[in-house]
Amino acid sequence: MSDAPTPSAANAGTIPLLRRLFAEHGRQHLRSYIGAGCLMAVGAVATAISAWLLKPVLNGMVEAEGFKTLRLLAWAVAGLFILRGMATYGYLVVLSRTGNKIVAGVQTRLFDHLLRQDMRFFQDRHSTDFMARLSLAANGVRDTLQVLITSMGRDVLTLAGLIAVMIVQDPLMALMALSVMPVGGYFLSRLIRKVRKSARRSFDGSARIMQTMQETLQGVRIVKSFNLEDIMRQRMAVSVCEVEKSVNSMAAGMAVSSPIADALAGIAIGAVIFYGSWRVTIAGADPGSFFSFVAALLLAYEPAKRLARLNLDIQNGLTGARLIYEVLDLPAAETPQPHLPPLQVSSGRIVFDKVRFAYRPGEYVLDGLDLVAEPNATTALVGPSGGGKSTIIAMIQRFYAPESGTVSIDGQTLDGVGLASLRDRIAFVAQDVFLFRGTIRDNIALGRPGATDAEIQEAARMANAHEFITGFATGYETSVGEQGAQLSGGQRQRIAIARAFLKNAPIILLDEPTAALDSESEREVQKALDHLREGRTTLVVAHRLQTIVNSDRICVIENGRAVEAGTHHELLARRGTYHAFFAAQFGENAAPLRIASGAGPR
Ligand SMILES: Nc1ncnc2c1ncn2[C@@H]1O[C@H](COP(=O)(O)OP(=O)(O)O)[C@@H](O)[C@H]1O
Ligand SMILES: [Mg+2]
Repeated sequence: MSDAPTPSAANAGTIPLLRRLFAEHGRQHLRSYIGAGCLMAVGAVATAISAWLLKPVLNGMVEAEGFKTLRLLAWAVAGLFILRGMATYGYLVVLSRTGNKIVAGVQTRLFDHLLRQDMRFFQDRHSTDFMARLSLAANGVRDTLQVLITSMGRDVLTLAGLIAVMIVQDPLMALMALSVMPVGGYFLSRLIRKVRKSARRSFDGSARIMQTMQETLQGVRIVKSFNLEDIMRQRMAVSVCEVEKSVNSMAAGMAVSSPIADALAGIAIGAVIFYGSWRVTIAGADPGSFFSFVAALLLAYEPAKRLARLNLDIQNGLTGARLIYEVLDLPAAETPQPHLPPLQVSSGRIVFDKVRFAYRPGEYVLDGLDLVAEPNATTALVGPSGGGKSTIIAMIQRFYAPESGTVSIDGQTLDGVGLASLRDRIAFVAQDVFLFRGTIRDNIALGRPGATDAEIQEAARMANAHEFITGFATGYETSVGEQGAQLSGGQRQRIAIARAFLKNAPIILLDEPTAALDSESEREVQKALDHLREGRTTLVVAHRLQTIVNSDRICVIENGRAVEAGTHHELLARRGTYHAFFAAQFGENAAPLRIASGAGPR
């Protein structure tokens, strides 16, 4: 795709790419391929023998005692064709099984590789790009090998057998007929570049079709509400048209190979008939050799034609292989690091020390951030949108690494501990809850795979979710719909909190968990959160008054720095940024009112 970087695999030449494909997949299935090759050889020999047998057949006809021999030959020819049919069946089955195994292997590898990429990788790309690669391109790998093996095995062997028959029957005539082959090869090689380009364009277009489709489906509410149908239709039309055009141009390129091959074959066959009939009629050669030769030549035509366009077919499949390798060749950013010790959380004190970080070079989102989240307490991050609060939450989970400065937990710098052990000790609840396909039970259970039903229900109770879940006719087995579409925002949020409860991690990260909720569901979620925070280190990005005021400590984040920190009272009394922020957010009078009503720090 246009927005993905283009590493070397994208431009790799045909031969290196084939060599690599063979090394990675062919060798592994060598036995199957050798088996298929043997079956092809059987078919090729059967074909050659049947052409060769035409000589005794024809010469037998002109002899007196011929009939007996001819009957035998008739049986032999029938037998040879049946044998060829069986061999063909055999190699087709073997080849497609092996091919499908290769596709499965490629898909597994690609997916596995994706899971090892870091956040940056995913944010630079559209999800459908991977779907297209996983489905369309993986087939390309199989097709390339399939075409290659079939052509090399069946067509080369068949052609070799038939050429041998031709040479045996008449070497000079064989030379005449074969001389057209390099001419054909030259013309076809010129088509390759065009086909290659079209194949790539058609893939890109297909990926965009999926993209438009996915966005339209996921954003169907927005599409309808903003009357975006025409724009989406337009987008789809552009991609569909692009694919249609490139597929047409590819087909035209491929089709040109036929007339070229036909014309050249016509010349060769015409020349052979001309010269051959002269030899038989004038020079007195035996007609059997001549007919056997012509039969071999005609039988050779199809495999020769296929071989000539082999390169075209391979280019098609190799486009897929290139797309796969583009992804596979990217270094995996999150490989397991067995040499790093696991994170040991004793109290769970999180410290940011002069952390600088930029998503884009030079644009610092965190600019010398100092921050402490004390154990057994809730630290609230407040401040203007875009100030870097979500980035802080992301850095604690090491979705990104600091450019300078350190993030540490209980004195252990995050880059010095195993990634999995770090994320194991953190429970994260985001504003936009993500639910996976499946039931409510499945979704909570993801907090700790292997948890019992009793534990899951306990977690749901703590999250204040048990009641609404059991209110559904199917209870915990209720399906959540695609991305939780069948639940309300507050319900989704509480399922996410139940998931966090089940994980039972010492560090809780909350990114505006109630921002999208109405005040009724907010209260429900808030109760659940208050419960979840007990005895843990909690860092919460907050906009809601209640969440802020209930925190033990508040940090004001502005332009990537903690500009103020302290309790609600301290900060208000200081009359600085927090006071201004608070007044703007909740009104000049809100502060004294809330404090008077007793909603001070815990
Ligand atoms: N993946 C990203 N790539 C580039 N810029 C980003 C990315 N995520 C956030 N930003 C930028 O970083 C800044 C801080 O974002 P964020 O931490 O989400 O702010 P907050 O949560 O405080 O509203 C914003 O200017 C935002 O545009
Ligand atoms: Mg944010």
